[in-house]
Amino acid sequence: NVLVSTVPQVLLALFSNQTDICPSGYKWLMVNGSKVAWNETQHCKILDGLVPDQLQLCRRNLELMHSIVHAAKETKGVCQKTFSDMRWNCSSIEYAPSFTPDLMKGTRESAFVYALAAAAVSHSIARACASGELPICSCGSVPSEVPGPGFRWGGCGDNLRYGLQMGSAFADGPMKSSKAGGQATRLMNLHNNAVGRQVLTDSLETKCKCHGVSGSCSVKTCWKGLQDLSEIATDLKSKYLAATKVTHRHMGTRKQLVPKELDIRPVREAELVYLVSSPDYCTKNPKLGSLGTQDRQCNKTSVGSDSCNLMCCGRGYNAYTESVVERCQCKYYWCCYVMCKKCQRTVERYVCK
Ligand SMILES: *[C@@H]1O[C@H](CO)[C@@H](O)[C@H](O)[C@H]1NC(C)=O
Ligand SMILES: *[C@@H]1O[C@H](CO)[C@@H](O)[C@H](O)[C@H]1NC(C)=O
Ligand SMILES: *[C@@H]1O[C@H](CO)[C@@H](O)[C@H](O)[C@H]1NC(C)=O
Ligand SMILES: *[C@@H]1O[C@H](CO)[C@@H](O)[C@H](O)[C@H]1NC(C)=O
Repeated sequence: NVLVSTVPQVLLALFSNQTDICPSGYKWLMVNGSKVAWNETQHCKILDGLVPDQLQLCRRNLELMHSIVHAAKETKGVCQKTFSDMRWNCSSIEYAPSFTPDLMKGTRESAFVYALAAAAVSHSIARACASGELPICSCGSVPSEVPGPGFRWGGCGDNLRYGLQMGSAFADGPMKSSKAGGQATRLMNLHNNAVGRQVLTDSLETKCKCHGVSGSCSVKTCWKGLQDLSEIATDLKSKYLAATKVTHRHMGTRKQLVPKELDIRPVREAELVYLVSSPDYCTKNPKLGSLGTQDRQCNKTSVGSDSCNLMCCGRGYNAYTESVVERCQCKYYWCCYVMCKKCQRTVERYVCK
């Protein structure tokens, strides 16, 4: 029973006279402030990726900035890990804020990054509340549902409610405040942000700890905790693969995002949406933001997206051998150390032509 804002219709009225320039609503991903103390409002100025609304939020909630910086970093790492077996591997996210076209236009890839980044901010804040890092919030409220047999609510749950509240204000800020930017793209970004937060909300699960004499688990306390961001990213990747292409047109009296090819139906709350089709990312084309897959490693035995056939787009691959040094034949000596030998092993690797 946490409210997630699902926006499109309500916000339409706000953006009537915009030209269609693409806003970069996730410029904040460039924030690189891990060494900043975040105890003076002027620190907010060093982050030039922020729009005015975000700057104001920064000045008023300096203590949140650690969580936001952490979320930006986590988004970049998790995105690349989640897409490491795909032709588009999220490496362009490192160029923030000079995004390449794959992330600047309303593509499927940008839909994923918006959703993940929005989830990450709320995730990071919700967790920070529970860990006691933030003076303005603490553990999530005790779940209203009756505890199951054999446990009681206790411990400290992630504060999803506060995470969603502040996370939405921050992540949706650019789409509500910046002057440049097309209405369709903003609606798309806001929608995908909401999808990311919905997946985050759905990831809330019951976690428990046992107490009792010698681990008998006669007393169990449980709380609601969020799954790790990488799990949320995996769910979002499925939604990315099934994303719906939409167009901006009149439905009734208002302009809305509606599926382009399918039957006339509104956009579903759970689906990621995009406006611009992506290239196949097989060959290098800077204009389209495609890095190509030449020299990418592929997996000869896989049948998935990292298989040599799919990754190399049928161009074939080169094999080479690499020797790796590993610890081996480890032996325990009494008392108390382990000694290993160094072994060399050759492994075959395959890279796309
Ligand atoms: C972030 O800041 C650190 C320290 O100031 C610097 O070493 C690093 O290169 C920066 N990273 C980026 C992506 O700008
Ligand atoms: C902020 O933190 C830094 C480093 O901890 C400290 O030197 C500085 O005096 C602090 N500023 C304020 C206004 O508390
Ligand atoms: C991602 O793809 C680019 C372009 O093909 C490549 O340069 C980079 O090494 C890849 N990154 C990883 C982690 O595989
Ligand atoms: C290649 O794919 C197979 C089958 O999916 C998997 O078991 C194996 O670990 C993969 N190898 C590498 C190096 O990723």
